[in-house]
Amino acid sequence: MTGQAPIRNKVPETARHAHWLFFRKWMRSPLRVASIAPSSPDLSRAMAASLPDGDGIVVELGGGTGAITQALLAKGVPLERIVIVERDAHFCAFLEQRFPGIRVLQGDAGTLRPLLRSADIAQPVSAVISGLPFVSMPNRLQARLLRQAFAVTNGIGPFIQFSYSPLSPLKRSVRERMGVMEQCTQQVWRNLPPAKVWCFYRAGMEISPAKLDTVA
Ligand SMILES: C[S@@+](CC[C@H](N)C(=O)[O-])C[C@H]1O[C@@H](n2cnc3c(N)ncnc32)[C@H](O)[C@@H]1O
Repeated sequence: MTGQAPIRNKVPETARHAHWLFFRKWMRSPLRVASIAPSSPDLSRAMAASLPDGDGIVVELGGGTGAITQALLAKGVPLERIVIVERDAHFCAFLEQRFPGIRVLQGDAGTLRPLLRSADIAQPVSAVISGLPFVSMPNRLQARLLRQAFAVTNGIGPFIQFSYSPLSPLKRSVRERMGVMEQCTQQVWRNLPPAKVWCFYRAGMEISPAKLDTVA
């Protein structure tokens, strides 16, 4: 928690406070937070809808104030199966307060493997779901995140990412070099701006033919 202001009191749980905290964080670090408000319920639901079936751990990267976490829980993923990785100490505290008992690891998503190891998370991970500002990341960082995600899912689970861009947020050169397979699974019109949900898979995985669901 170095370099950040101390957390003075309990973090309120309301949506209003989530928006206010998000906005303050965005004012301070627009590139890291990358959005002035939490993801909308429609986008969060679309992300959760892209999860594969299974009972492994779901790792959420860049939890923020928990918009996607809430959608995971609403979809029926039990709290014990969710592990959130978030870099910002205030967001971590907010998440712990909003979802008592949930596992929140403060750290850089780029070091996912060691973070899970040091938290003694040994169960298989069935998917990595990311709210990170992926599209603006340099090639090297995108590749690193995908390598880490595929390592913790044993190459079986997807890396799920939303993007406001009409095109894939994954840089073409990274996709080609790593042989990553991609599938756009959701189009979310009722989000400002409209967004898409993408699933990325390790080379060689068999994925079912693309089926694009649209959230009005
Ligand atoms: C666009 S916000 C998304 C927050 C939330 N998932 C949502 O959809 O409302 C991006 C989040 O990723 C976090 N973040 C950015 N880079 C990160 C990194 N390298 N490791 C962990 N968290 C990171 C930010 O602190 C912020 O909470």
